[in-house]
Amino acid sequence: MDVLDWILLAIRWAHALAAVAWVGGGIFYLMVLRPAIQRATGRAKALPPEITRTIGVEFRGLVTTAIAVLLLTGVILSASRLTEDAVTSPYVAVLVVKIVLALYMFYVVRFMRQDSYPEEQDLGGSMWQRLRGRLTGTTALLVIGIVVIGLSDVLDGLLESALVS
Ligand code: HEM
Repeated sequence: MDVLDWILLAIRWAHALAAVAWVGGGIFYLMVLRPAIQRATGRAKALPPEITRTIGVEFRGLVTTAIAVLLLTGVILSASRLTEDAVTSPYVAVLVVKIVLALYMFYVVRFMRQDSYPEEQDLGGSMWQRLRGRLTGTTALLVIGIVVIGLSDVLDGLLESALVS
């Protein structure tokens, strides 16, 4: 491995670490922290808004850093991958889907829910407003994040099989 390979390795590491922090944090919140607070406060469903807001503000700080790292390292990884000879059209297609989903995640956090990290919100009102609440909530972002990680593994697999053949 030459120096460039080591730098790319560090970049992949930072990219994966940021993804794990964001998606892992979402899993921890939905599967551990939220049920734990619900049990401790004896509430069946909704948590006290001041608690979700405080958690959201803290988590948002971490997610903002993760987004900056993912964007910067993602651009470098894409540039390095797309200039390899082994790159195929399925690879480019999956990468485009991945980037669109990632940009949607960034957009929701940055522009649609500016107060804190998006907690499930019942925006009430019309069907469209309820759908919008769901598609920009914690669970939707987590599901998309899990899909994006899966697509990254597909990318890895596509590149490996192209290198072998
Ligand atoms: C604009 C945003 C992004 C770009 C341009 C981007 C680009 C890339 C590229 C080119 C790779 C290398 C794939 C390969 O092995 O051939 C990669 C890997 C990866 N990406 Fe992203 N990505 C972005 C955002 C995200 C997000 C939001 C997540 C998760 C929440 C994520 C998770 C991962 C993971 C887990 C890997 C595998 C890392 C490894 O194998 O060490 N990426 N990304």
